[in-house]
Amino acid sequence: MKLAVSLIASIFASTASAYWLPEALEGVKTCVVPKNATGTDDTPNVVKTTAECGDNSRVVFAKGTTYSLWTPLQLKSLTNVEFVFNGNVSLPDNVSYVESVVADTSIYPGRWINFQGTNVTLTGSEDPQEGWFIGHGELWWPGGAANSVNKGRPHFFSLKVDYLRARHLKVWKPVAWVFSMGGSHVWMTDTLIDARSDDGFPFNTDGIDMSASHSLIDGFTIYNGDDLINVAPPTTNVTVRNMYSSGGHGIAVSCASGAGGDYLFENAVVEDSLIGARFKGSLGTTCDLRNVTWRNFTVRNTSYPIHFIENYVDQEKGLPPGRNLSLAAYATNFRWENFVGQTGQILKDGSCISDPCWSATLGESLFYPQLVVCVIRLITIAGESTDKGIYLLCADGEHCKDFHFSNIDLKAYDGKPAEMECTGLNGISGMGIACTNSTIVMS
Ligand SMILES: *[C@@H]1O[C@H](CO)[C@@H](O)[C@H](O)[C@H]1NC(C)=O
Ligand SMILES: *[C@@H]1O[C@H](CO)[C@@H](O)[C@H](O)[C@H]1NC(C)=O
Ligand SMILES: *[C@@H]1O[C@H](CO)[C@@H](O)[C@H](O)[C@H]1NC(C)=O
Ligand SMILES: *[C@@H]1O[C@H](CO)[C@@H](O)[C@H](O)[C@H]1NC(C)=O
Ligand SMILES: *[C@@H]1O[C@H](CO)[C@@H](O)[C@H](O)[C@H]1NC(C)=O
Ligand SMILES: *[C@@H]1O[C@H](CO)[C@@H](O)[C@H](O)[C@H]1NC(C)=O
Ligand SMILES: *[C@@H]1O[C@H](CO)[C@@H](O)[C@H](O)[C@H]1NC(C)=O
Ligand SMILES: *[C@@H]1O[C@H](CO)[C@@H](O)[C@H](O)[C@H]1NC(C)=O
Ligand SMILES: *[C@@H]1O[C@H](CO)[C@@H](O)[C@H](O)[C@H]1NC(C)=O
Ligand SMILES: *[C@@H]1O[C@H](CO)[C@@H](O)[C@H](O)[C@H]1NC(C)=O
Repeated sequence: MKLAVSLIASIFASTASAYWLPEALEGVKTCVVPKNATGTDDTPNVVKTTAECGDNSRVVFAKGTTYSLWTPLQLKSLTNVEFVFNGNVSLPDNVSYVESVVADTSIYPGRWINFQGTNVTLTGSEDPQEGWFIGHGELWWPGGAANSVNKGRPHFFSLKVDYLRARHLKVWKPVAWVFSMGGSHVWMTDTLIDARSDDGFPFNTDGIDMSASHSLIDGFTIYNGDDLINVAPPTTNVTVRNMYSSGGHGIAVSCASGAGGDYLFENAVVEDSLIGARFKGSLGTTCDLRNVTWRNFTVRNTSYPIHFIENYVDQEKGLPPGRNLSLAAYATNFRWENFVGQTGQILKDGSCISDPCWSATLGESLFYPQLVVCVIRLITIAGESTDKGIYLLCADGEHCKDFHFSNIDLKAYDGKPAEMECTGLNGISGMGIACTNSTIVMS
């Protein structure tokens, strides 16, 4: 009987998944992280328990317990370990203390929670009262514009794992950036991030900064104030599906150097947001990105449903000196399919604290910004509109090749068929859409 069970289990493990799933294995050691009985910091116990439990083990955060990670957590060289978050895990609720830690590179490696290794499984709780990673962002957000430039804000997670299985992770009020995803072969399902703020804009609450190739993210719900995900070269082969985004800045691809691609984003509901399907090529740099598809998007009350630009500048960093402004991203085989929805009433959200706004749509003249600044300002004002569902701002047809639009059914805020803004592709045929500065015409 025992033999039969282990035979079935090993067949399952080797045929069904390359991932380390302890429920499919026998003889996995389980260790529970004890709560610090004498002080506030639970990080030493997490480190100690993980080390003692060793490889091929399961480390459990107990239900009904809130673990405080008073110092940053670094777990390296993990092999075949599952972490089960049945209890809550909290960052410190003292802003000036966190700022002092973030400033100290001897204890803060750039992220507060760091997992590195091979075959790591992170399992959250399906109990809505348990298993939250708590950031205490609500203590930081009322700072507004000052918070947006505060270098003392913590980044939450660094996951540098080959074969990461992450399931049911839930994040409550992250201060800013949530997941920085390195490694490769990430399989992440049913993730929830809640960065809704009732006092102050939740700046830079990006969901995933993605550089793990060969990954699938399935089931992702986020309420935030920045990108749901951003994927960039040299990352390849990433699929993200079944997304819900509220308040966000887009399901994004960006490109500033290198080569990459093969990204598929499908089945998304985007509402009350600034941007839906987003590409940002940095101004004055070049890169090579191929095979990117956004499909089956429902977009409601969102300022910029489809936004593709090749002149992106980070408002917090500005344009770095010495950029050659005639350079732009090379984007090849990009597809936008099955979009339905409507633009929003507003053209900017609470993240707009500069003039012109970082999200202003700058027309073709930005490819020559040495031209008079006031011209750009005028074009800015002319460029964006609640009438427009698509912004397609290419340097030229050489940089934007093999573009395909199909089944785009977007309405303007006033209910009329949406318009578009298009530069650089004037007269190019075969895109399924005409490059115009007026009502969208599919062909
Ligand atoms: C990772 O897990 C897979 C599936 O269980 C296994 O085949 C592989 O040997 C593991 N890798 C390491 C380094 O243990
Ligand atoms: C308990 O927390 C204190 C800080 O309050 C820390 O100095 C101590 O190392 C922790 N003890 C254990 C066993 O983790
Ligand atoms: C865990 O955190 C969530 C979110 O802050 C909270 O609603 C819940 O009450 C906490 N659970 C426990 C057992 O403290
Ligand atoms: C917060 O941290 C600062 C700096 O570490 C410390 O001086 C202050 O006493 C802490 N405040 C509370 C309420 O613990
Ligand atoms: C792409 O990634 C998926 C998900 O990890 C994987 O199953 C597939 O083998 C990868 N494809 C290639 C060509 O590497
Ligand atoms: C993009 O698609 C082309 C044609 O199918 C393929 O040759 C190429 O490997 C794909 N990926 C990238 C990143 O170029
Ligand atoms: C399109 O996406 C929605 C969710 O946004 C999903 O319910 C629906 O099944 C998807 N359609 C297809 C054909 O996959
Ligand atoms: C539209 O979205 C904005 C956020 O971008 C939000 O403030 C506003 O309340 C939403 N409007 C409606 C009618 O839901
Ligand atoms: C800027 O880039 C263009 C296009 O690659 C190139 O022709 C030109 O020489 C570059 N200019 C400088 C100053 O590097
Ligand atoms: C749309 O207007 C921009 C200026 O904002 C101009 O550069 C571009 O060529 C126009 N596009 C078309 C298709 O006329």
